[in-house]
Amino acid sequence: MSEAIRARIGAELERTRGRTTVLTDAVDADDLVKQHSPLMSPLVWDLAHVGNQEELWLVRDVGGLEPVRCDIDNLYDAFKNPRKDRPSLPLLSPAEARAYNRTVRDKVLDILDRTSLAGRRLVADGFAFGMIVQHEQQHDETMLVTHQLRAVPVALSAPPPPPARVTVTGEVPVPAGRFSMGTSVEPWALDNERPAHDVDVPAFFIDAAPVTNAQYVEFIADGGYQRRQWWTEEGWAHRVDADLTAPMHWTRDGDGWAYTRFGVTTAVRPDEPVVHVCFHEAKAYATWAGKRLPTEAEWEKAARFDPVSGRSRRYPWGDEDPAPRHANLGQRHLSPAPVGAYPDGASPLGVHQLIGDVWEWVDTDFHGYPGFAAFPYREYSEVFFGPRYKVLRGGSFGTDAAACRGTFRNWDHPVRRQIFSGFRCARDAGPGELG
Ligand code: AVJ
Ligand code: FE
Repeated sequence: MSEAIRARIGAELERTRGRTTVLTDAVDADDLVKQHSPLMSPLVWDLAHVGNQEELWLVRDVGGLEPVRCDIDNLYDAFKNPRKDRPSLPLLSPAEARAYNRTVRDKVLDILDRTSLAGRRLVADGFAFGMIVQHEQQHDETMLVTHQLRAVPVALSAPPPPPARVTVTGEVPVPAGRFSMGTSVEPWALDNERPAHDVDVPAFFIDAAPVTNAQYVEFIADGGYQRRQWWTEEGWAHRVDADLTAPMHWTRDGDGWAYTRFGVTTAVRPDEPVVHVCFHEAKAYATWAGKRLPTEAEWEKAARFDPVSGRSRRYPWGDEDPAPRHANLGQRHLSPAPVGAYPDGASPLGVHQLIGDVWEWVDTDFHGYPGFAAFPYREYSEVFFGPRYKVLRGGSFGTDAAACRGTFRNWDHPVRRQIFSGFRCARDAGPGELG
């Protein structure tokens, strides 16, 4: 058992470092140290930051070894250095960062060989290693966002996503009742996903697919960005202040729209989920459509509830780990897939593409579940709880399977849209509409 976990950890560490290497080898040293957007770190900061977190948790804490470089901890502490300040810090050079990460990783592989995975909670089931794999994968998605913001062609190649295989339209009814939200058993689930707790959810309808570009274009064409009536007060203030007129990276293309993806501009594909919208845009669209955003509990019930057994699944398709046929994850394709491309990933209720493609905004503030306990550090989740952050669910094409589950929770400020964020709509079930 423990040997199987050890082998899996070794493979995940290696696979993850492979992705980090691809993302940081894609540009030259100049572009690694440059800040491409005030919202993002220089790529070389992300690179050494993943090594530094690995050193802090696995070399020093789990392994009990002496520091490799305690002099750089402050530089790579995200709380001590706002993103805008990171380019002016005395960071490790690209070559130094790569050598540092290699040194840390060699020690970690020794530690993995000699550490019991049945001991204290930090290492039970390999949790600390899983946490570090997920942390690096999260920064890999962040680095992919940086590449998107550079807006010049990048040396990352990937096959296009699969075409639609089925037609998916309309809404799916979700019956009223309790379901189990969150998890107490998933070994690598992070603190904010815990513990499992029952939530009673009234009957509602949820869109069978994320909102597409074609649908979003109708909202724009109907004056969605000009008419205040669809927006919340806060959303409208931001709409005006930031002069929002379309999703990020969209430009006018004659009568239509084009978008720029990793430096390449093409006509907007109508059947793809819309991406690069902020929470306020998502909410305005939903109001315009006569609907609303789902709550976080509604989203998770639609994704995990199995009406036959009454239990919650790990993923919409079941308990199996994600495979390529289930979902567009892991930067395998560098765009969302058209709606209908993943029938094998649908939930038992018939809701498609909940996992992968685009992160989905839900209308819930990031908060701790009943019985939440910060573990192993408050700065992963707890310090972000409260009304300043909205939750996003399901992962995007840029999210790795190791960092994405039916219970996984992401969060961001409601004005952010450089991330791979989209949404789907929901609505209350009227009296008698749904037994
Ligand atoms: C969970 C994506 C919001 O990137 O800010 C990375 C993850 N935490 N390093 C982020 C994270 C510490 C976090 N998100
Ligand atoms: Fe981090």
